[in-house]
Amino acid sequence: MTATFGFWRTTLGKKAVMAVTGLILFGFVFVHMYGNLKMYQGEAKFDHYAEALRELGQPILGEGQALWIARAVLLAAVVLHIWSAWSLTMQSRRARPVAYQRHDLLQSNYAMRTMRWGGVILLLFIIYHLAHLTLGWAHPDFTPGKVYQNVTIGFQVVWVSAFYIVANLALGFHLYHGLWSLFQTLGLNHPAWNPWRRRFAALFAVAVTVGNVSFPIAVLTGVVR
Ligand code: HEM
Repeated sequence: MTATFGFWRTTLGKKAVMAVTGLILFGFVFVHMYGNLKMYQGEAKFDHYAEALRELGQPILGEGQALWIARAVLLAAVVLHIWSAWSLTMQSRRARPVAYQRHDLLQSNYAMRTMRWGGVILLLFIIYHLAHLTLGWAHPDFTPGKVYQNVTIGFQVVWVSAFYIVANLALGFHLYHGLWSLFQTLGLNHPAWNPWRRRFAALFAVAVTVGNVSFPIAVLTGVVR
């Protein structure tokens, strides 16, 4: 038991927590973007999809139960992801009070700083997004269950759409660097594989970003109304 907890306190243990929780969060973000593409099939299909999510797991589970399980897993993943990031940052600050001088190390320091700021923007975005499209607290005309209508009315507000676009571009960078680092943690670090690692990370980050950024743009341009 002590040995298990001891492992989670090591740099490797924290990186493993970050990698596993990152993979869970990436899986969610990808599936969420893919599901949201149903918006392009019109109101009935999109609202039906949202309803189906609430009914997921029935009749074995009760209505909304699978959704609550998913919410609990996501919340735990977010908390552990932030904890490991915070803890690794503090650890590296303690170990290196003097700034990097070498170019490659400066570059990796730059990437880490971008990840941290990207992470903070994402956290603020998620809080706003829940208030906006799940709880309706930050929405001019929210109707529970009318998901298509909530999205289209919500994105007609230009600054809201602009915020979604900026946050999802930040998410794109975060995913790109996160996926790249994930392979490193998993030990997939070989000069022959590195170009593939980069391509794979770029492909998934671009797919999620293009999909997500397209939604507010589609509403603002009247493609989705
Ligand atoms: C433009 C991009 C996005 C759109 C159009 C969108 C749309 C939506 C909608 C309509 C809901 C409410 C679903 C319902 O009530 O049935 C929702 C929920 C949610 N979204 Fe997004 N989303 C986007 C991006 C994101 C991103 C990037 C994240 C995470 C980083 C995210 C995380 C969530 C979470 C955690 C929920 C709450 C699920 C729940 O507890 O019911 N979304 N989203």
